[in-house]
Amino acid sequence: IEVDEFDLVVFGASGDLAHRKLLPALYHRCADGQLPEHARIICTSRRAYSTEEYRDWAREALQEHVADVEGDKLSRFLKRLVYVTIDIGTGDGWDGLKALLDERPEVIRAFYLSVGPDLFGTICEGIGKAGLVTDKTRVVIEKPIGKDGESAKALNETIGAVFQEHQIFRIDHYLGKETVQNLMALRFANALFEPLWNAAHIDHVQITVAEALGVGGRVGYYDTAGALRDMVQNHILQLLCLVAMEPPESMNADSVRDEKLKVLKALAPITEDNADRLTVRGQYRAGASAGGAVPGYLEELGAESQTETFVALKAQIANWRWAGVPFYLRTGKRLAQRVSEIVVQFRPIPHSIFDAEAGNISANRLIIRLQPDEGVQMKVMIKDPGPGGMRLRQVPLDMSFADAFKVRNPDAYERLIMDVIRGNQTLFMRRDEVDAAWAWVDPILEAWSGSKEDPKSYTAGTWGPSASIALVERDGRTWAEEG
Ligand code: BG6
Repeated sequence: IEVDEFDLVVFGASGDLAHRKLLPALYHRCADGQLPEHARIICTSRRAYSTEEYRDWAREALQEHVADVEGDKLSRFLKRLVYVTIDIGTGDGWDGLKALLDERPEVIRAFYLSVGPDLFGTICEGIGKAGLVTDKTRVVIEKPIGKDGESAKALNETIGAVFQEHQIFRIDHYLGKETVQNLMALRFANALFEPLWNAAHIDHVQITVAEALGVGGRVGYYDTAGALRDMVQNHILQLLCLVAMEPPESMNADSVRDEKLKVLKALAPITEDNADRLTVRGQYRAGASAGGAVPGYLEELGAESQTETFVALKAQIANWRWAGVPFYLRTGKRLAQRVSEIVVQFRPIPHSIFDAEAGNISANRLIIRLQPDEGVQMKVMIKDPGPGGMRLRQVPLDMSFADAFKVRNPDAYERLIMDVIRGNQTLFMRRDEVDAAWAWVDPILEAWSGSKEDPKSYTAGTWGPSASIALVERDGRTWAEEG
């Protein structure tokens, strides 16, 4: 689908996100012929590049991050890039940006703030003061949106002083992932699941976002955040919302976000009274990953720290649909493998007609694999083939996206940037969602900071501290891959 003419202004255009994600995403959209003829990508940062020098930098980034980059398509894409130096600190350079944007005041204008959150406020004020906000303007901000409820509120106020809520796109790139959107298709475009999607039929849900990598070059930011703020407050709670929400009235942005908000508000509080039972935080020590020795978190940081690189939680949603159904959430760095998946564990059959020889009957399980090897798997019981009597076995009904569709799986940013241009906020977080997510996370952070216990140490390359296994085993359950 074509989009209208636009100018996209990227702040922080020489940074890591632009390098790894934004430029590759825009390149793909351009190579697929989705950008309008005169669309421009205006790149800004503090560095004194000329447009030519920036294009050279961008060429290298694309050659590094796009597997099948094609020469002529690349040259055509690079021509769309224009560079302007802006020093946010001194305020120098806004005139140059204004002059460029004034050439096309009638087109869609999107400002992408690919910078640290400490600059969000100053940049928004700069945009306001330079008079760059038109009716067709939107602004995109990356996480983290604050470090707690209070700072998020202050940030939202600052941005809200320049932009209206319908112009603000708070990106959570997990919502742009193909399989995450598929979760909505699976639930609401099939008659099969929804009647069973409740406490009467579902025993529990597991959401795992495991990474094999450590914190790498981001240790400075990471140490101020930790896994709860970095992954749970946003990505994992968003996944939980999509699994747990009521069917929205339509795919309209506010209908979807209203339903997600209700889930966030129904999360049972975790506070100092129950945090010991419901949360586990961990920190990796030296170990092995991908066959090589890797240092521990504290060695990477070069200092003492209580920051968690792993978290496991038992969340409960206090509403009619989900009463008594635990949602086990976990995420961490330097775990055994990179895998993100949602496991919906159904309840056992009420009564077995088979004799003991048939073997155990495992309850059905739906696995939505977000990455890698995107796909959906349903574990069902069948009769073992052959004449040996009625023996039962669990097998997966498997749908791998790579096998089913022989197409490239687009990166989340491709979808999300185009949604910004189209003005579609369905896959972006509304302000009240951010507030509600912090309202649940803040008391956990407080409970931890008031606790005398250190995060539990785990060896890099394992599934996290043993307390995480105990968290689910106490309830007579196991994490999916260990089960
Ligand atoms: C980011 C976090 O939001 O998501 C990172 O800040 C994390 O710490 C990343 O590594 C994971 O994203 P993905 O798309 O690689 O799963």
